[in-house]
Amino acid sequence: MADLFLKLLKAEKENTEKYLKFYLDSLHIPGVLHEAMYYSLSAGGKRLRPFLAIVVCEMLGKPRELIMPYACALEFVHTFSLIHDDLPALDNDDLRRGRPSCHKAFREDIAILAGDALNTDAFSILFEFGEGNLKKAGRYFAKAVGGRGMVLGQIYDCTIPESERTTEKLDFINYYKTSELFIAATAGAAAWLDADDSQINALEEFASNAGIAFQISDDILDITSTTEKLGKKVGSDAALNKVTYPTLIGIEKSRAAVVERIEKAKAALSAFDGNSWKNVLEQFADYVMDMAK
Ligand code: IPE
Ligand code: IPE
Ligand code: MG
Ligand code: MG
Ligand code: MG
Repeated sequence: MADLFLKLLKAEKENTEKYLKFYLDSLHIPGVLHEAMYYSLSAGGKRLRPFLAIVVCEMLGKPRELIMPYACALEFVHTFSLIHDDLPALDNDDLRRGRPSCHKAFREDIAILAGDALNTDAFSILFEFGEGNLKKAGRYFAKAVGGRGMVLGQIYDCTIPESERTTEKLDFINYYKTSELFIAATAGAAAWLDADDSQINALEEFASNAGIAFQISDDILDITSTTEKLGKKVGSDAALNKVTYPTLIGIEKSRAAVVERIEKAKAALSAFDGNSWKNVLEQFADYVMDMAK
């Protein structure tokens, strides 16, 4: 179903990783801090967020060089979010992207600081190497990461009592935790490339729904998949008594909720009717829908 998406994702991975290394090396960060940042950045990962930004760039017919700093900054903040998510104080996960988590390969103090540096240096990349519309995109990029975005979602994830978790509350948590970075990768990328507000808004609606679906699928996989396949430990949510969509309403109903979100995500793309790249975003949506089948 998502053959074209998967083919293009694979084709872009190596190039994105070259840029990630280039920007990290260009920052001349010394010693163990550089090592820990590089360890987590180079550990693999699907590179979905940079890829979505690249697709948006193609969709808008803008030169590829314009998007690469922005695409890599997204992967820097995403990697920061994963390093901190795995810490003993958060999800206490020892395996990430098929390798020991940053705090296991290095030390907890170093992992915290490597996350801090990846977060802040994402902005170094935008400021020092970026030539997009910083002001317009900042509204999406910075907001997606901080106290009004992913970090806020993680706080809700850590603090909302099990007894208060309903599907509505989970939508709310998942929106901040996960959709926000997908919004930065699509609507934010379009803003960086000076797209029209109507295009930016359509991408925001797309990513908001696809992001919630992505997190529900991730939560299903935490129950149904294997550690080998995911490169991270399955059963992690149960071990932490996390109430998720599948624990709350079961796997089948969760899959139906994913389908519903994906339909909404695809409907938002009508703003791009006639654009040949629209199909790649639709296939990304199909990929999210099929992820936990
Ligand atoms: C994992 O994201 C974190 C969630 C939002 C569920 P990804 O599944 O995109 O992780 P990587 O980048 O491929 O490792
Ligand atoms: C975390 O969700 C999303 C982030 C903001 C990092 P999870 O805790 O389910 O992500 P995984 O399963 O550890 O990748
Ligand atoms: Mg978590
Ligand atoms: Mg986790
Ligand atoms: Mg998970």
